[in-house]
Amino acid sequence: MRKNIILITALAMSLTACKSNHQETWMNHALDVASGQLKSTAEELTGTNMIPRSIHAGYDLNFLDSQLQREDKSYIDSLRPNPSAKQLKQKYICGIEDWTSGFFPGSLWYAYEMTGDEELKTRAIQYTNMLNPIRRLKNTHDVGFMINCSFGNALRLAPNDTIKAVITETADNLCARFNPEIGCIRSWDFGYWNFPVIIDNMMNLDLLFNASKLTGDSKYYDIAVKHAQTTMKNHFRPDYTSYHLVSYNNDGTIEKKQTHQGKNDESAWSRGQAWAVYGYTSCYRETKDAAFLQEATNIADMIMQRVKTEDCIPYWDYDAPAGEATPRDASAAAITASALFELSTFVPDGKKYFDYAETIIKNLSSDKYLAVKGNNQGFVLMHSTGSLPHGSEIDVPLNYADYYYLEALQKYKGLTE
Ligand code: GLY
Repeated sequence: MRKNIILITALAMSLTACKSNHQETWMNHALDVASGQLKSTAEELTGTNMIPRSIHAGYDLNFLDSQLQREDKSYIDSLRPNPSAKQLKQKYICGIEDWTSGFFPGSLWYAYEMTGDEELKTRAIQYTNMLNPIRRLKNTHDVGFMINCSFGNALRLAPNDTIKAVITETADNLCARFNPEIGCIRSWDFGYWNFPVIIDNMMNLDLLFNASKLTGDSKYYDIAVKHAQTTMKNHFRPDYTSYHLVSYNNDGTIEKKQTHQGKNDESAWSRGQAWAVYGYTSCYRETKDAAFLQEATNIADMIMQRVKTEDCIPYWDYDAPAGEATPRDASAAAITASALFELSTFVPDGKKYFDYAETIIKNLSSDKYLAVKGNNQGFVLMHSTGSLPHGSEIDVPLNYADYYYLEALQKYKGLTE
């Protein structure tokens, strides 16, 4: 009997070792690829004042038509020009005022955090400092993404006295876009809408929560909470899918609801659903308001039910025609995984969220999505989609897919090690 118990224990121990060796293997490989890609890109772009965003890719009009299945062809007016033959497959770089500028420095911070590699830290500081002028940018809500992913991570990993001023100055500019009559922060200053608010704007609230903690001033917190409450009231359909955009009249009534980057106004644009579940998970973390937790779990359950791909990496829109040719959005998957790891710690039945997020990051770490080191123009993941109805960034790497993938890996490590 005693001999049997010893045998069973030994077997169990070797199975556990196998599992953790397996985890180490895929995780180490992912971190090796990510560190190599990020370091070579940082080196390549040093001195240019530019940030890597994506890869120039073209599109075929008939293909877009078959994805969108729209009677109304007016989307053709907003298509981005197809890249020139010389540009095709080249790296797409952007300036610091691009909405995605915070993600590359943020990825460097996460890679540094997980590897301890000092070269990554030096690069993270270099690319974070490049974004200092963004503290004065007033014409977009995206400053939350830009500054929180760069300086916000710097504050966690290499705090210094100047970071507080950058975060609070940026947060003041974001708050200046808040309209108390409407109860929301204005997203865009371009376009034909009266007061557009996009679901992505939920992602800018972490900057405000940080500013509140840094200054002790509750005004940032109060604005974040009001924005989240108004969005919860107006952005969601009864099935918990989110519109991309709600535009308000000046008295707070609704001007229109749309899905600007999705298949059509009533479709579930994949990244929008990911921003939503992430945003309400963050809001619950910061406020402990049960209404935000309920919203986050409702959205998470909807995502798990609606994503029909076998590997849980969604098509670019949940309502896109299912099939091999339909582009995926790895960025939506990575954002969802990061949110679901955190959400899994807030609820008693969190294991289902943890398991789903684990499936996503393991699949993103497979050859199908993870780059081969030295390829993919220095990006970590392949197969994301920026905005298909605009002919923009279809089936390409995106810097924010890399950022949220690394963030998800970091959370996974924190929960499993
Ligand atoms: N925030 C813009 C996007 O998600 O494409």
